[in-house]
Amino acid sequence: MQESFEILSSTGNYSVVAGTDLLAHLIVQQPDAIYMVDERLEGVLPTTITNRILIKANENNKSLESMPEVILKMRESGANRNSHLVAIGGGVIQDIATFVASTYMRGIQWTYMPTTLLGMADSCIGGKSSINVLGYKNLIGNFYPPVAILIDMAFINTLNEEQVIGGLFEAAKICYARGYQSFLAYLNESPSYPLNTDNAQRVIVQTLKTKKWFIETDEFDQNERLLLNFGHTFGHALEAGTNFGITHGIAVGIGMVVAVEYAKASALLSATGINRAEHLIQHVKVMLGDGLKNVIANPPEIDLALVLEKFNNDKKHRTDCYRMVVPKEEGELALISEPKNDAVHNRIRLAYQQGLAEIGYLNYQLID
Ligand SMILES: NC(=O)c1ccc[n+]([C@@H]2O[C@H](COP(=O)([O-])OP(=O)(O)OC[C@H]3O[C@@H](n4cnc5c(N)ncnc54)[C@H](O)[C@@H]3O)[C@@H](O)[C@H]2O)c1
Ligand SMILES: [Zn+2]
Repeated sequence: MQESFEILSSTGNYSVVAGTDLLAHLIVQQPDAIYMVDERLEGVLPTTITNRILIKANENNKSLESMPEVILKMRESGANRNSHLVAIGGGVIQDIATFVASTYMRGIQWTYMPTTLLGMADSCIGGKSSINVLGYKNLIGNFYPPVAILIDMAFINTLNEEQVIGGLFEAAKICYARGYQSFLAYLNESPSYPLNTDNAQRVIVQTLKTKKWFIETDEFDQNERLLLNFGHTFGHALEAGTNFGITHGIAVGIGMVVAVEYAKASALLSATGINRAEHLIQHVKVMLGDGLKNVIANPPEIDLALVLEKFNNDKKHRTDCYRMVVPKEEGELALISEPKNDAVHNRIRLAYQQGLAEIGYLNYQLID
């Protein structure tokens, strides 16, 4: 069954449609569009679509340094200010397409078809782009939503366990951020691997409708939407500290566990809050399997000193304090500022150690 809803935005409302056979319909409706597609997915395009820009989905290609090449390809495709761009791929293709569509000839219209669970359940709405610059991840970006987002459930079928669980962690994060009842409603949809297309659609639509509240309430990331960074500050450090051996979504899952441990070590939670946050930890643990065995065959070694250094350098902190999203009191999320002193450093280290122990990561070498 097809489902659709609107996202209200100051730059114009846009629609989200989730269902099956959406790619086939899109191709009929937009035969002359320029298709910017994840190279891995080239096979889904019929030969009739000749205007195609294929991009390998990696962090190098979503960099400012790679943009001239993509923009040149747009020009060679004959794109003008009335052209329509269709982007098909995960978060990397989305970030590139948002940036290119917003700047090419001062901005052209575009449609996005997300193909990873992270893209479908999270990043596709909100309109943000994040572009790497000279090795610094997501240093620049802007807001430029597509006119339509079409979520074709068929793309779920080729995602592996790590990709699905990573996407589900982003979904769990959004629902937990909205409140404990919303997290329970999410769990009620039995999010797990493998996801069949019906199950996936229910989880995706429910999660996007939850995220809709955040982006309509705080379109430009000033207040409520910042809570969606839950798991990210702790998680990014694990991603970067393992040279991306732990992928983004998985790192967010572990990052949420570490954030809960930080809140516990800082005595921020009431008894109810501890129970609710533990419920989230249990969910992450079950999904990961002991020591991450469900998602990575050979989990990388973690050098805790390097992870702490990456945590320290996160761009979301201020010069005089750390900024992190953690559960407090009854388990609700809050953005807190912590001074950069020894007590806080020790709690951050302890939170990583406890968090990694919690998910069984001690089976692997923890260089400290
Ligand atoms: N702009 C935003 O709001 C936003 C939000 C979150 C994340 N991001 C960015 O998104 C990126 C991560 O997103 P992602 O995980 O979707 O990354 P991605 O686009 O790199 O996709 C991950 C992998 O999945 C493959 N893939 C894509 N669709 C597939 C399919 N249907 N079947 C099998 N394989 C498929 C890709 O080729 C790639 O190897 C990061 O760069 C992150 O910074 C952006
Ligand atoms: Zn994320």
